Amino acid sequence: MNAPIGVIDSGVGGLTVAKAIMELLPNETIYYIGDTARCPYGPRTIQEVRNFTWQMAKALEKMNIKLLVIACNTATAVALESLQKHMPFPVIGVINAGARAAVKSTKRNEIVVLATEGTIKSGAYEEALHSLATKAKVIPLACPTFVPLVESGEYEGQFSYDLVANGLNPLENERFDTVILGCTHYPILQKQIEAAVGSEVKVLSSAEETAKDVEAILSYNNQLRTDKESPKHIFHASGSVPIFRSIAERWLDQGELTIRRISF
Ligand code: DGL
Repeated sequence: MNAPIGVIDSGVGGLTVAKAIMELLPNETIYYIGDTARCPYGPRTIQEVRNFTWQMAKALEKMNIKLLVIACNTATAVALESLQKHMPFPVIGVINAGARAAVKSTKRNEIVVLATEGTIKSGAYEEALHSLATKAKVIPLACPTFVPLVESGEYEGQFSYDLVANGLNPLENERFDTVILGCTHYPILQKQIEAAVGSEVKVLSSAEETAKDVEAILSYNNQLRTDKESPKHIFHASGSVPIFRSIAERWLDQGELTIRRISF
């Protein structure tokens, strides 16, 4: 019950989910892996993404986690089912949570899904959305330039607004009232995305709904952490630790983080 929660992503994107978990469950410890050396996953083959995701899950299994969050839509789309079948702890993804958030919010059932090429090609969001709202009009759009922008750490200037507006150009003649950030890196560009789609459109991520899923599972399994000492989160990056540190400390705003290098 005092074991950590594992959170994995191709890079820094899963920090958006880790932050929501820390806010909802401040007593829980998080062990995070960002596979920054092999990011982005979006353009990779299904087999590659599946293998890399398994490697991260196995590494966290050795660290004795009690639950795994695949905080990466691309990895959720291709690896969730197999990990759920074979891991000795509960495994959750972010796609159903994102779809739920969108369906709760949309008024006209017109939903844009922004995600990586891998997630869009998998059709996983359409499936999840249509299982909740059969008549929803779903407009998928891959945004391959967004993840490299976030991973570079240079996502705050005018350049980022221009790059995001450019990536969202194909939506110019579409009607929609809700946008799902179907890639966990995209909440880091939320301001830029909101500026591009306009203030009448609701822009949502899966982070909060995923955190609620974590709470529900831990509480159902009677596994919420009871230790009174503050949790000691540990972050792992397979690429540059200084770049990971600069993005993670800015995003999480919790002071100095414990960050270790991990190799696969
Ligand atoms: N953050 C990940 C996602 O939610 C993957 C981004 C990438 O590596 O392409 O899909």
